[in-house]
This record gives sequence, C-alpha cells and structure tokens, in this order.
Amino acid sequence: MALITLAAALEAAREGNYGVGAFNVTDLAQAEAVLDAAAETDSPVIVQTIAGASVHGRDELFWEALVTLVARYPEVPTVLHLDHGASYEDCVRAIDAGFTSVMIDGSMRDHTTPATFEENVAVTRRVVEYAHQHGVSVEGELGTIGGSEDGGASSKEIVLADPDEAERFVAETGVDALAVAIGTSHGAYKFTSPPDGTVLRMDLISEIAQRIPKTHLVMHGSSSLPADLRERINAFGGKLPESWGVPESEKARSTQLGIRKINQGMDSHMAWTAEVRAYLDADGIGCDPALYGSKGRVAMQQMVADRMQVFGQAGQSYRHR
Ligand code: 13P
Repeated sequence: MALITLAAALEAAREGNYGVGAFNVTDLAQAEAVLDAAAETDSPVIVQTIAGASVHGRDELFWEALVTLVARYPEVPTVLHLDHGASYEDCVRAIDAGFTSVMIDGSMRDHTTPATFEENVAVTRRVVEYAHQHGVSVEGELGTIGGSEDGGASSKEIVLADPDEAERFVAETGVDALAVAIGTSHGAYKFTSPPDGTVLRMDLISEIAQRIPKTHLVMHGSSSLPADLRERINAFGGKLPESWGVPESEKARSTQLGIRKINQGMDSHMAWTAEVRAYLDADGIGCDPALYGSKGRVAMQQMVADRMQVFGQAGQSYRHR
C-alpha cells in the first residue's frame, strides 16, 4: 500500500534523523514529477496541495485523480496531504477524498487578521477529532508564516512562534505535527539579502523541539529561490525581483535541529516555469501544452530529486516495508 500517514512518515524520519520534503503540486503532471523523483531516489514523500489552488476546476476531481495516481506507485511510501486547510469543512472534504493527512491553518481569522490562540485551538481540536477518527494525521500552525501560500497577491505579517504557546497548543489540540513560524515566508519574495540568524530564527526550532519532543515540527516557506532559475525565467520574459530564500545548507541543518517536514513549492514551480518559458521562447509557434508541459514536468522531477538528497529522505523507503 503506497499511502501512509504523516505521523508514520515523520516517526520514521525521527528514527533515521532526516527530513521529508512536502512538495506542493498544482496539477496531476506535477504530482507525477514528485512521485517519479521519489521512485528514482527510493524516498518516502509528502505530496501536498491547497484547496482551490490547482489548475483543475474542481478540487474533488483533482483529489480523486491524486489518490489513483499514488496507487500507481506501490513502492513509494506516500503521504497525501492537504496544505493550509482554511476551514474545518475543507479538511473534512480532503479526508473524505482519501487524504492521509491535513493541515488546519487556524492561525488567521481571515486573510489579514491573525486568529486568537483560543480560536486557533478550537478549530484545530475539531479537525483533530474528525481526522483521528478516520486514521488521518493533522498538522497545525502556530505563529504566522509570511507571504501568500497559494501564490496570490495577499501578504501576511510574520509572527514568530512562541515556545510556551507551542507547548500549550499541542497539549490542547493533540496535533501530530506543528508548523512553526521562524521567519520564513511563502512565495517568490522572501529575504532582501542572504538570511542570517536574526531573520531566519533557527534557534527557535531547537527551543520548541525540546518543549514538545513528541510532536513533529514543520518548516514552511522553505524554497531557496535559486538565482540561476530566476535568471533563466527573467531571460525569457519574466520579471522576478532579486530575493533570497532558505539556503539548502540551512534546510539540511534544520533536520538536525528537529524539523521533520520541509514544505517546498516555489522552487519546483520556478524549475517548471523556467523550462516552459525557455521552450515557448525557442518555439514561437508552439501552442501544444503537451510539449511545454512535459518539459516543465521533467525539470520539476530533477529539482525534487535533488532536494530529496539534501533533506536526507533519499534511500529511506525501506523503513516503511
Ligand atoms: P515556498 O513558497 O517557500 O515554496 O513554501 C511552500 C509552503 O510552505 C507551502 O505550505
């Protein structure tokens, strides 16, 4: 059986002291790229998607197809995860569709106002109750990760996670995993210079890990924003401003401090977009999405396979057999 829960994937990662990449996908071909990368590197993997943020018109159609796709890779231990579930109802939909893990993002009341701690606890606890009854894992969020997770225009203020609150939050909700805001943000604009310890608060990871040793920690906004990909995108019509993400070395280091799930979407999307832009530029009359879409898929597979080596999950599938 290819599908496993997030708790099982991260428990094995703790035993082996490595991180598991959670790669955002917005269509079926991107999910294929991630699963092919996992098969190629013999990695357990987390395939994640956000409700309403795919190229498909209906979530349920896409989600059903994801469950079918994962079944085609019986050798790959795969977590199918809802990223940034915005409501109890979205999490229930994903669980009913066959996802083995959901994130309830109770950190915001709406796009601009942070929720209170009590509001976050209340919605998270409700999701945990339903999910655990169905054998599904839950990730909660504490503090606020900046940027916009679905690539939209809205942008959130960063509010760092508080170790005291983390302890209370876990005790009161029973989440399996916790996203901790340590200064990262989602999307293609992160740091204005290479991040040092004052903006990327790696010290918070160890502090929180010591307080909640049984809960798996998650780092969001982990893309590195590779300069060569930005330059390639811009060489073919893009206008991405200079920006720095989380260096690969820091992602590897985070797994030694206690991070077990590493969320990464934008790096794959940049790899995909760079190839598509280059292809369309070279072939001025090319209009067939099958041609440029498959270039994007292959570039994304390569990027994800490389990151699986960095995170340490490559070669770890055997732990689930
Ligand atoms: P990036 O935007 O840095 O790829 O992060 C993705 C993420 O954290 C999704 O939840």
